[in-house]
Amino acid sequence: MRHAVRFMLGDEVISVAGVSPALSVLDWLRGAARLTGTKEGCNEGDCGACTVVLARPCMGRLDYRAVNACTLLLGMVDGAQVLTVEHLSEGTRLHKVQQAMVDAHGSQCGFCTPGFVMSLFARAKQPSATRADVAETLAGNLCRCTGYAPIMRAAAMIDDNEAPDVWDARSNQTLTQLEALQDATTLCLSDGSASFIAPTSEDELAHFLVQHAADKGAGRPTLIAGNTDVGLWINKKLMRLDPIFWLGRIEGLKRIVENADNIEIGAGVTYSKATTALVDLFPEIGGFIARIGGAQVRNSGTIVGNVANGSPIGDMSPLLLAAGARLALRRGTQRRLLPLEAFFLSYGVQDRAAGEFITQVSVPKPKAGAVLKAWKISKRADQDISSLMMAVYFDFDGTRINEIRLAFGGMAGVPCRALASEALLRGGPWTRATLAAAQAHLRHELQPISDMRASAAYRLDVACNLLERLFIETVERAQTRLPDASLL
Ligand SMILES: Cc1cc2nc3c(=O)[nH]c(=O)nc-3n(C[C@H](O)[C@H](O)[C@H](O)COP(=O)(O)OP(=O)(O)OC[C@H]3O[C@@H](n4cnc5c(N)ncnc54)[C@H](O)[C@@H]3O)c2cc1C
Ligand code: FES
Ligand code: FES
Repeated sequence: MRHAVRFMLGDEVISVAGVSPALSVLDWLRGAARLTGTKEGCNEGDCGACTVVLARPCMGRLDYRAVNACTLLLGMVDGAQVLTVEHLSEGTRLHKVQQAMVDAHGSQCGFCTPGFVMSLFARAKQPSATRADVAETLAGNLCRCTGYAPIMRAAAMIDDNEAPDVWDARSNQTLTQLEALQDATTLCLSDGSASFIAPTSEDELAHFLVQHAADKGAGRPTLIAGNTDVGLWINKKLMRLDPIFWLGRIEGLKRIVENADNIEIGAGVTYSKATTALVDLFPEIGGFIARIGGAQVRNSGTIVGNVANGSPIGDMSPLLLAAGARLALRRGTQRRLLPLEAFFLSYGVQDRAAGEFITQVSVPKPKAGAVLKAWKISKRADQDISSLMMAVYFDFDGTRINEIRLAFGGMAGVPCRALASEALLRGGPWTRATLAAAQAHLRHELQPISDMRASAAYRLDVACNLLERLFIETVERAQTRLPDASLL
């Protein structure tokens, strides 16, 4: 076991031991490291004031990602380079991102500014950044003063300035230093009363989880991936978790494997890494994935973490239910496969034994001509929880509906399918009359909850309206020349 977390802070390799396993990168930066440029706003992943950038080796180069330091535990930066706003300027010379924010008047009170700077810095390091994605990049950063337009202008100035910076100049050296930090030894951080354990193989993780589940004297283990859900239990519910197991060092769980008839997304794959593979399969869902959290949340949070959490308002579960996904679970050496719908038993209860974990989610490739659509209805477009979410897999040959799977989030105590309404539609024609019959059926089949986000009546109306939207998009759009609904 290694008892110190090792990472690069700027250009310096450092090692930290003996800290609380629940210590966030934000608290460590502002406290022990005295790097107070990184701010605490919400402490729950929403405002982006705490944004820092992590660089990790990826296929022979450095992959830079903006993440929220408030939901990131210190052990999770093992083997990475951590860059904060302090690392960008060289002496009194501002980095081009900082200079653009000054020149475009992108800062007023300045509290949010380090977070915006770090998000823009990470974006400038992405080879695929385009002008169109600025708003998407910045959706996870809130500003209460500038009104965003000057910040967007700063982003455009950065795009026009391709001059390399000091981090580009030393990237080979950084890569070598980071690669030297990668080892196969389990990391165990402990302050004497609680521990954070990060193994490097799936077998080891399986062994640890079974061992701890069986040990009545030990605390209940909590497995984390991106910690974007669990981080809030620590920061807001003040839960004391011990031990915490992190799967982020297991390379085998960070893979996306394409087979002839499915893709397998490992438990360590983040939204950001999975987006291309998912959108290649289902071109219509790109806009939907971009509305899950902000970029920082998608850079840390995993698809499997969303499913495992079992939340009735999680957005990925309905999407994956409609896609016909299956989960692969492992407990010790025992493995099993489960259709996703069988995983959600009741509110807060999933079909997962003590010591068992999900290794991957397998998503079948769609039949030629079939589509997967997903709509998220929330009060704000960005960074909001769904009041209702509907996903539909639809295979229609122009005459009859060959297959339909309708799945909902925010509708019941668990993510659910409307099986009876699907059965009514399957095999039939797709006409206004069928639509009306299916809407009536949905009203009978769905038994929505009423809560602070929406009333049951609203949820039912929206579900029926979304079914109509499916009809318009798949049948009537060409005739009526409606705009692309993914933009609405
Ligand atoms: C600001 C903010 C915005 C958000 N916006 C959205 C949103 O728009 N839509 C949405 O759906 N969610 C949203 N979330 C919730 C969260 O980001 C997602 O649920 C995310 O996918 C969780 O993944 P994670 O890897 O961070 O999970 P973690 O927090 O690491 O874990 C979540 C749960 O899954 C369990 N778990 C993780 N991996 C495994 C595994 N392999 N096997 C078994 N159990 C496991 C953990 O024990 C825990 O119970 C948001 C969160 C924040 C902070
Ligand atoms: S402090 Fe608000 S996102 Fe971290
Ligand atoms: S400049 Fe004041 S919050 Fe953004």
